[in-house]
Amino acid sequence: MKLHEAGKLAQARAGFERILKKNPREVNALHYLGVVLHQQGQHGKGARLIQKAIEIYPKHWVAYSNLGGIYYKTGQFENAARAFSKVIELQPSDVRAYINLCNSLSYLGRDKEAINAGRTATLLAAENKHCWLSLANALRKNGDYELAIESYEKAIALDPRLFEAHGGLCHCISELEIRAPGSHKGMEKTAMAYRNWLSVDPGNPVASYQLAAIEGDGAIKRSPDEFLSVFFDQFAETFDRNLTDLEYSAPRLIAERVHVRLGEPDASLDVLDAGCGTGLLASSLKPFARNLTGVDLSSQMLEKARVRNLYDRLEHAELTEFLKGHTASFDLLICADTLIYFGELEEVLRAMEGSLKAGGLAIFTLERLQDSAGDYQLNQNGRFSHHEDYLKRCLSAVGLSLVSCRDEVLRKERGQEVSGLLIDVLKA
Ligand SMILES: C[S@@+](CC[C@H](N)C(=O)[O-])C[C@H]1O[C@@H](n2cnc3c(N)ncnc32)[C@H](O)[C@@H]1O
Repeated sequence: MKLHEAGKLAQARAGFERILKKNPREVNALHYLGVVLHQQGQHGKGARLIQKAIEIYPKHWVAYSNLGGIYYKTGQFENAARAFSKVIELQPSDVRAYINLCNSLSYLGRDKEAINAGRTATLLAAENKHCWLSLANALRKNGDYELAIESYEKAIALDPRLFEAHGGLCHCISELEIRAPGSHKGMEKTAMAYRNWLSVDPGNPVASYQLAAIEGDGAIKRSPDEFLSVFFDQFAETFDRNLTDLEYSAPRLIAERVHVRLGEPDASLDVLDAGCGTGLLASSLKPFARNLTGVDLSSQMLEKARVRNLYDRLEHAELTEFLKGHTASFDLLICADTLIYFGELEEVLRAMEGSLKAGGLAIFTLERLQDSAGDYQLNQNGRFSHHEDYLKRCLSAVGLSLVSCRDEVLRKERGQEVSGLLIDVLKA
């Protein structure tokens, strides 16, 4: 156990295995070997060993707690909630268990129960920032923005640099501001919350960028790399679930378009998933691919994509730079919901053109700028929308032929449809 505490996993593992050879029912060796295996990436094996320890000693609440942790980390929130409830049954004063239960229930969409667990945590340990943070997140998820704001503020009072609490607080304030009756969509209170965040965490890439977006900074030509990697890293865990809630349809629309253009798949193409995120498109692209590559700026999103085991290669890189380094490499390039983080399109489209083989195909989405005032616009949510005429000018400047440009609904935002463009281009 000393070796384990010191992070010497291989040696600790060998020690626990030796003990189990002598006594296969030694509870703590089973339990901690399970934890070590989980830390070494063998989650299923680890969980099974801990379950065995629990069978031998059913009141082992620490084992239940670690078992819940494995389930939580591997996205098995139902099992996690069950394990953390068991911890609470056996050890009712365990604050961590209430926090973990609150977070698990929140993932399961059992918002009211999550809020109850979070509240109990704050009653048990009002000085613990994580209790307030979990409660705030659960309240926010349930749409209780005012109450969530109070809890985020309590968490921030305990730790003024608590990144996640600032992010959540700003989100709730902006939701209230947008929904305020008669609101002219000025976002003064939200801007103030971002400024407060920056006053304790100067230069924070998320706060700086979101503030610039709210203030309508017309000089921003593309979302900064640092913002994208931090933002999507923290979003990776909940990304797929959130997008289901938002009825995100870009992967389906692109997959349908790929089928229309290419017919039956024959695993013969070099395919790039540009801004692959968690890999929502991988299963529809794989049948077409001799080689399927994904590229993204967020390492956590890439980790989620890796778990799918469908990409031949995953690259942690900025898209334009990556494309410039891979000339005439791809038969098919798809880019779902990613060019919305680019304002100016010409450079990235030129790089796309360069990375396609002759006759290669690119399919991507954009959000439509309705207003005819400009070429593109950075919106208050930090995403760009583009005018169709601007897109067409950029395509002809870089020499890509437009095959089709259709109006599509890409997702919902606050119940409203977000109108987008599904674009299909060809390299001659
Ligand atoms: C909204 S997600 C979409 C992910 C995926 N294409 C999908 O449809 O589920 C946008 C992704 O693009 C990535 N991204 C945005 N700009 C990028 C850039 N310049 N270079 C690389 N990746 C970028 C982000 O990190 C994020 O994972």
